[in-house]
Amino acid sequence: MDYQSIAKQEESVWQQSIYALARPALPGNMTVDVAVIGGGLTGILTAYFLQQSGRECVVLEADSVGGGQTAHTTAKITSQHNLVYHKLCQAVGKERARHYAEANEKAIRRYEILIEKYSISCGLRKCDAYLYATGGGKSDRLLREECRVAKELGLPADLTTKTELPFEVSQALCFHNQACFHPLKFLYAMAEKVTVYEQTKVQRVVPMSREGGRLHANAVITNHGTVRANQVVFACHYPFVIRPGYYFLRMHQERSYVLGLKGTAYQGENRMKNVYLGIDKDALSFRGAGDVLLLGGGNHRTGENTGNQYEYLLGQADKYWPECKAVAKWSAQDCMTLDGIPYIGRFSGKFFENFHGKSNGQPGGRLHGDFGADADGWYVATGYGKWGMTSSMVAALLLTDLLNGRENAGEDVYSPRRKTIVASAKTFVTEGKYAAVNILKEKWGRTDERKKTGAHSTSSSFRGEVKAMHPGECKVFKKDGEKLGVYKDEKGEAYVVSVKCPHLGCLLSWNADEKSWDCPCHGSRFSYTGELLDGPAQTKNAATCALR
Ligand SMILES: Cc1cc2nc3c(=O)[nH]c(=O)nc-3n(C[C@H](O)[C@H](O)[C@H](O)COP(=O)(O)OP(=O)(O)OC[C@H]3O[C@@H](n4cnc5c(N)ncnc54)[C@H](O)[C@@H]3O)c2cc1C
Ligand code: FES
Repeated sequence: MDYQSIAKQEESVWQQSIYALARPALPGNMTVDVAVIGGGLTGILTAYFLQQSGRECVVLEADSVGGGQTAHTTAKITSQHNLVYHKLCQAVGKERARHYAEANEKAIRRYEILIEKYSISCGLRKCDAYLYATGGGKSDRLLREECRVAKELGLPADLTTKTELPFEVSQALCFHNQACFHPLKFLYAMAEKVTVYEQTKVQRVVPMSREGGRLHANAVITNHGTVRANQVVFACHYPFVIRPGYYFLRMHQERSYVLGLKGTAYQGENRMKNVYLGIDKDALSFRGAGDVLLLGGGNHRTGENTGNQYEYLLGQADKYWPECKAVAKWSAQDCMTLDGIPYIGRFSGKFFENFHGKSNGQPGGRLHGDFGADADGWYVATGYGKWGMTSSMVAALLLTDLLNGRENAGEDVYSPRRKTIVASAKTFVTEGKYAAVNILKEKWGRTDERKKTGAHSTSSSFRGEVKAMHPGECKVFKKDGEKLGVYKDEKGEAYVVSVKCPHLGCLLSWNADEKSWDCPCHGSRFSYTGELLDGPAQTKNAATCALR
């Protein structure tokens, strides 16, 4: 393995292979029927279907179309969302699980229809999707159980031990007739069909109100003016508003890493045809993209990187194809919900209506409360759990029906207000506790945490200690009651940021693989210079880029 050949810049193979067209920013205040926040797959597809149904809408994108998680996916278009169906049947019942399966299968077909209709050249390829295990035992049993349930739900599932992988598997579960594509080629083609304003960051949304008998539409306030809209869709990956909705209490984010490899055994005629995901600990994801093999893995909760994720993937690549070269490396993150089902539908103001009952929705649960008024005319699609290709299509179709007042069988299954979330109340309590502990860590800086992060309690010697740091080193200091993270780059330049997350105040932790400060609570991320990389935080870090 040639380590030097790894692309320095963390661009995905999709970004490397297509030129992005720049679009204008919002030209000023305007009034539209629907404002869609976010120009990833979810936002563009939702705007497209809404427009097709006769609605006037605009997409407001903070950066550029597809610049978010969609640019960093591995783009397997499949209803095989890891081991989801057995769990779903238990958590929400067979009928809802069946609907989930059907909606995601339909989403695959919907991609095929759109791509054919507009002759989009995006490398759409039919393939089979596999989950695999290598260790036998419990993992094999889980795959067999998943296969049984998937078949009962009408999915095209089969068990096998024959794969294209470079090692033996003890069991594999195959879903037939799935697909994969170049996500940005598809997205850019679809974005041509809708109105998108780029570099237009939504800062705030003031809900619809009635004053003196007059109805005031939602005010979507951006850095380039205000868009008045009757309906607003939050398709921005993580709905950034804190209240209503309280999504930060019921989601966390998980990161994964990907290498693009050339010179593996999967070249020319022998390209990897199908897509694979391992279910064992530290297992890998595989998919071919032309002559490049995408090798993924290293999942962890954002803010809890134990390090060497790329090294791990490089080691695996080296083991199977010593001659191969890494031509791309990147990482990304997605939102994980309490019960594994995305939140798609009306925004949900009264979050705690979900907790009025036990898992069957009957009164008697212990958690009560009304956490804010409903946001009329607000809709959301988030929490795809790293299965956003079919989920964004499901979201676009479901939201188009809801915004047009049409019934959709998926409404109950995906509703962010669904009562069945109560089955996951324990996870919810854990998420809340997790955030509380991390906010306290930031505030009081318990000694064990100081040891872990290397925080120093002295302030007088701050400058001297920073000076003594080695290039490439990172340390956390306490200076005048404030915790500061310092990273010294290879040239010896020191960059100082506050390690208090500007979202809700948790303690940021250092991600050595990506040289970023990541928040373990809800997944916001900042570069070592303090620039915002990922939300829900909306502002850059309180960075003091010059050494104080
Ligand atoms: C490593 C990895 C591999 C994956 N592989 C697969 C796969 O093989 N198959 C699969 O189905 N899924 C996969 N996923 C998941 C999938 O990539 C995502 O779920 C999907 O891309 C999310 O799309 P989105 O449109 O919801 O979000 P995004 O693509 O992130 O789009 C959201 C947009 O909103 C914008 N935005 C944010 N805040 C604002 C604001 N305040 N104002 C205006 N705009 C804003 C952002 O700039 C961004 O462009 C993977 C995820 C990861 C992490
Ligand atoms: S406190 Fe919420 S992302 Fe950091």
